Amino acid sequence: MAIREKYQEIFGSAPEVVAQAPGRVNLIGEHIDYTDGFVLPFAISDVTTVAIGRRDDGKYSIVSMQRPQHKVVVDSLTPLSGEMWARYVLGTIWSLGVEGGFNVLIDGRVPVGAGLSSSAALECSVAVALNDLLGLGKSREDLARVTQRAENDYVGMPCGIMDQSVSLMGHQGSALLLDCRDLSTKDIPFDVASAGLELLIIDTQAHHALVDGGYAERRASCEKAVEVLGITSLRDISVEDYVARKAELDPVTYIRGFHAVTEMKRVIDTVEALAKDDFETVGRLLNESHRSLRDDYTVSCQELDEAVDTARAMGAMGARMVGGGFGGSAIALAKSTLIPTIKEGITQSFSARGFKAPRFFTSLPSEGAHVL
Ligand code: GLA
Repeated sequence: MAIREKYQEIFGSAPEVVAQAPGRVNLIGEHIDYTDGFVLPFAISDVTTVAIGRRDDGKYSIVSMQRPQHKVVVDSLTPLSGEMWARYVLGTIWSLGVEGGFNVLIDGRVPVGAGLSSSAALECSVAVALNDLLGLGKSREDLARVTQRAENDYVGMPCGIMDQSVSLMGHQGSALLLDCRDLSTKDIPFDVASAGLELLIIDTQAHHALVDGGYAERRASCEKAVEVLGITSLRDISVEDYVARKAELDPVTYIRGFHAVTEMKRVIDTVEALAKDDFETVGRLLNESHRSLRDDYTVSCQELDEAVDTARAMGAMGARMVGGGFGGSAIALAKSTLIPTIKEGITQSFSARGFKAPRFFTSLPSEGAHVL
């Protein structure tokens, strides 16, 4: 059933606003959004749609079409310890600083737990809907900061600003070059199809417990490197200068910072290669990014490495893990004609190693969040 009709059925009136926001994949620029880096994600075609209406009793009633039996009704925006998906909604309302109660119906079509930012899609759909409904006049940059704050301070995940920004500011046909320092953006045309290529998304279906602690710990290492080196951010030091100052850092801090400074350079190199339709170089940079995330930043896992190695062995031009790591998805850039073989190869190798069966997606760069 369509979301407007479902809302009417559940809440007994028509919604006042309906908005949608997409998930994302990150082409390159991993774990550098929280160190002021440039990143190059794009919005995917899977979206979360929300229908919202005001209530006059000050309560918040949240229902997901995917879990209709778990209606969440609360009296206030005090951080919840319960249903995670409801916390993204309440956190966004809290972070927007708006008054009053709301009915919220969610139709979440971004695969959950696949590292495709279903949480950012939910936050951004709510933010865009309420910005419109309440005439808040907030810019996309404001909404990116609002939704990041919801996740950092309400949900308690110390994420950077990439996922929310691309969900809000991505455009069809382009990857988004996002400067995480000032949130300025540039659309970078990403037309793999005309080159006979496809970007395969491989959801390993692995979720390792390290996720939260491991993420925060790496972020802390980058902050430590900045402090010890007395620089403003890892963005402000070249790879050469960073390497020259190796002796000033303990080995773990050094190698994590090394990932950040080299990944920043790989993003710029990828943008240059895309301008020339040089997909061979893009593939090589994806491979280098994975090596760095696996060996230097140590955020990969067996399943991600297997997916990446198999994709490459079956002819992909490049492959790497995406997102926070320790599970979730990888991407592989390959000739479209090779995609079925690559999928088959990965499915077989996962089965041989006793891993959960992977899921595959593909997506062209799609439009960011908007009111419907
Ligand atoms: C998660 C976070 C992002 C970003 C990536 C790694 O997706 O939410 O802010 O740090 O990990 O690039």
